[in-house]
Amino acid sequence: MNTQKREVRNPRLNRVFDDLVDTLRNFIRKHNLTYEEYHRAIAFLAEAGEKGEIPLLMDVFLEVTVDDVDHRGWAGTETTVEGPYYVPNAPEMASPAVVPHRANEPGEPLIFSGTIRSSDGVPLAGAILDFWQSDAEGRYSHFNIPEAEAPFNLRARVKADQNGRYELQTWVPAAYEIPKAGPTGALIKALGGHPWRPAHLHVRLTHPGHATLTTQVFLKDDPWIESDVVGAVKSSLIRGTTRTTDPAEIRRRGFSGPFHTLEYDFVLPRQMAKAA
Ligand code: DHB
Ligand code: FE
Repeated sequence: MNTQKREVRNPRLNRVFDDLVDTLRNFIRKHNLTYEEYHRAIAFLAEAGEKGEIPLLMDVFLEVTVDDVDHRGWAGTETTVEGPYYVPNAPEMASPAVVPHRANEPGEPLIFSGTIRSSDGVPLAGAILDFWQSDAEGRYSHFNIPEAEAPFNLRARVKADQNGRYELQTWVPAAYEIPKAGPTGALIKALGGHPWRPAHLHVRLTHPGHATLTTQVFLKDDPWIESDVVGAVKSSLIRGTTRTTDPAEIRRRGFSGPFHTLEYDFVLPRQMAKAA
């Protein structure tokens, strides 16, 4: 029992942290945790820290719930988790844009487009769509691809046009496998689960006077669409791509082989002006 006299400076911190400790102490009692398990937990967390996996670990197991709770009453496109692979300050580009890529970028091209609107239906001219994804081999730039090798690969901040339309050319992503080499992957394996996330495109949309929308668009035919290790898939966020193989159309677009298109319209909740 802690009998310390406290000078409470931040009541929310005291309430939330005390409850966390209480919850964990009850958890220890409920499961009769041994010293061996306690030390195993400490070693696991220390390893996660050393290997830079704390964000991944937290996001895999807890972020969906934060997303749920923090977006209660949300009036826009359904949100889902940001995940651990967002990098701020990606190159700014006007729509239509071709995202930064390597000369030999693997996979088939994908044209991702749509309209960004306010919750009252008005198109949001100049809205910023901050975009990121893994490549066709399931690797994120700055994490699984060294930053020096391909800075901001498949990442961009695309500015919508006067009609709130955005269009960007990227490459169809593959499913993403949580790294097996690290403690998070080892834990998932020890639990008997699989480490896969279905292929997805990440977006973070902003416009003045509107709440920021962070979500993902999931590719329909992915084998992991119903068993995302993170549990972040929502049916309204699933879309199929249309694959074009017509040579004339391929030539017209300037591609050298089949390409895909995917349309998704986004809605950002208008923010109430704060009462004076
Ligand atoms: C998580 C999210 C991702 O988008 C991803 O590619 C990998 C992991 C996550 O929430 O843990
Ligand atoms: Fe992701």
